Amino acid sequence: MRFDIITVSPELIKSPFEFSIIKRAIDKELVEVHFHDLRNYALNDYGKIDDYQFGGGAGMVLMIEPIDKCISKLKAERDYDEIIYMTPDAPTLNQQTANTLSLKENMIILCGHYKGVDQRVRELFVTKEISIGDYVLSGGELGAAVLCDTIIRLIPGVLGDETSALTDSFQDDLLSPPVYTRPSEYKELKVPEILLSGNFPKIEEWRNEQAFERTKKIRPDLLED
Ligand code: ADE
Repeated sequence: MRFDIITVSPELIKSPFEFSIIKRAIDKELVEVHFHDLRNYALNDYGKIDDYQFGGGAGMVLMIEPIDKCISKLKAERDYDEIIYMTPDAPTLNQQTANTLSLKENMIILCGHYKGVDQRVRELFVTKEISIGDYVLSGGELGAAVLCDTIIRLIPGVLGDETSALTDSFQDDLLSPPVYTRPSEYKELKVPEILLSGNFPKIEEWRNEQAFERTKKIRPDLLED
């Protein structure tokens, strides 16, 4: 899998890829992540990539030409399965979208900035638009990092225990059950007896019940369908 991330702030987005599970996935060559600074495709030597919006209004808009130049260069080098634009005015990311995207090979992720991109970019190039939640960030970079993380951990071989991504919250529309580790008692708070019983079918049953109860209490909307 390969991600090409187009951004006006490469430094802002790099660090989530330099640690822990994502870094190991890159080191193991299970995924490649490339960052492209939009300013390298600027219209002039001053690095012009944005302009005022037609019709007036606060905020600068990323221009189509630099984005076209960058995307066209990438597309000339390989085929892309998706060109994703990170923006708050889009369908919200969920586990189902991550599962689907984890089956793709090459993806471009375009990070919005300031007031966003010229609408014609969305019409001409973008194949999928994703928001990471109903709030506005300063740019799409943090959203792109979230999106990549949730996809990369699903690639076979990335997580040590192959099954553990499948037991994540949301994989079956349920939240995860509670987990405990040593000590079995801490300041009079005891680990549920069943988890110490060694009776694995019963433990599984208990976990399923807990997952259901938690979901009913915290996210009843997930049970609606
Ligand atoms: N850019 C700004 N806000 C965003 C959001 N909520 N999701 C994705 N990209 C964004």
